[in-house]
Amino acid sequence: MRAEPKKNAVRRRDALGLLATGVWVGACGGARSEAREGPAPDAGPGGSAGAGGGAGAGGGAGAGGGAGAGGTGAGGASGGSAGVAGDAGSCKLAPTAGCKLTSDNILGPYYKAGSPFRSDIADGAQGTPLVVRGVVYACDCVTPLANAVVDVWQANDSGAYDNTGYVLRGRMVTDAQGRYELHTILPGLYLNGSTYRPRHIHYKVSHPESASLTTQLYFEGDPWIESDPFVVSSLIRPLAAEGAGYGVDFDIVLG
Ligand SMILES: [Fe+2]
Repeated sequence: MRAEPKKNAVRRRDALGLLATGVWVGACGGARSEAREGPAPDAGPGGSAGAGGGAGAGGGAGAGGGAGAGGTGAGGASGGSAGVAGDAGSCKLAPTAGCKLTSDNILGPYYKAGSPFRSDIADGAQGTPLVVRGVVYACDCVTPLANAVVDVWQANDSGAYDNTGYVLRGRMVTDAQGRYELHTILPGLYLNGSTYRPRHIHYKVSHPESASLTTQLYFEGDPWIESDPFVVSSLIRPLAAEGAGYGVDFDIVLG
């Protein structure tokens, strides 16, 4: 009898403790090779990634500029000092002990401006359901930012980005408490050179009174994290079983 294909393991909803042997091991099956995600033409060192300008609340394209105030730039993915360069001097609010800005991370080559405003970005894409919840904070780590624009994009279950339409792409505007809630699927894996990039969701976050941030969300237990040159440890979050899939919290602190 043939063994069950490993990919089926992705579909199973396991307790968190089984993620390492369920989701993560099984994930390789659907992976495909893609162009390198590394420092892409639009993500060079020093990084004004994208088409300039900050996004107005509820409005602009979210194509905002540099990745974090004083940060390492979009090409600085091997950096990862979680906003250290930006959080000390530029914040005008009263400091909060232990407060760290969310680290920037590479833009990658698949960003596309003009995504629709929506909280459910699956748009028919099949996969393991995932809900991401978070609050966008100002640089003191406690003041919620209403009307921040959270622009997200990710690969589908097979590791492919939609570069012609907007499947698995979308923008959200935070509510009065700074909250956003993203309904999507667990991103697939794709090759970056000789190794797979870990599962990740790309973010560009902007607010009129804060520095724009380009970053990524990664998931605890992903075996491809260790070999990936771009992962920043402060951007890794644990998945929790939720409904037919998973839930994860990802708060963001802007500079
Ligand atoms: Fe990516």
